[in-house]
Amino acid sequence: MTKFRDTFETNVYGPVLVSEAFRLLLLKSSNAYSLFITSGLGSLGLASDPSSPHYGYQGTSYRASKSALNMVVVEEQKVCKGKVKVFTCCAGLVVSNLRGTSDAARQAGGNAEDPETSAKMVLDVLEGRREEDVGKFIQRPGLFAWGFLEYSLLKHAGSNHGGCLLRR
Ligand SMILES: NC(=O)c1ccc[n+]([C@@H]2O[C@H](COP(=O)([O-])OP(=O)(O)OC[C@H]3O[C@@H](n4cnc5c(N)ncnc54)[C@H](OP(=O)(O)O)[C@@H]3O)[C@@H](O)[C@H]2O)c1
Repeated sequence: MTKFRDTFETNVYGPVLVSEAFRLLLLKSSNAYSLFITSGLGSLGLASDPSSPHYGYQGTSYRASKSALNMVVVEEQKVCKGKVKVFTCCAGLVVSNLRGTSDAARQAGGNAEDPETSAKMVLDVLEGRREEDVGKFIQRPGLFAWGFLEYSLLKHAGSNHGGCLLRR
């Protein structure tokens, strides 16, 4: 339970506190952006599809915290009433200490990419190159599904590649 609580404090309560603290200032801006860093592991659709690479990841507290964060962002968009461009961004699988400090953990067994790719996605958002994705659950090359229905519909329509929804 301690792990669950700590994970929620970091991944959910932290972003809630920060967004509450900055909201009034952002609402005064004529071109405000608010980015929340989440994970595709929080997608209910990907988590429940056995054919998705996200299906087998074991880490209930992390997954649940990112699902909860996603709901926080959906609600944040409503609170900001379109006056702030709110983005939900998956960082992508990149080298970091998030999974542990050994080489294998940092590099996710050789699967993790350069973290610069995550930074570039954030820069793309802040420099206005992803304006069509305001309010969506984005990843570097495209979009993630929020939940079951959107995921099923898009997958059924043939938009699914490796468990993710690619647009570009
Ligand atoms: N890396 C990936 O493959 C990946 C994939 C998808 C999503 N993400 C998301 O991207 C974000 C950044 O992850 P990262 O890979 O950059 O991880 P990271 O290198 O481990 O960095 C995590 C950051 O969170 C801070 N932090 C951790 N626990 C905290 C706490 N209890 N209170 C305050 N700060 C705390 C750490 O602070 P200290 O430096 O002081 O420890 C560190 O700055 C996370 O939201 C993660 O879920 C990462």
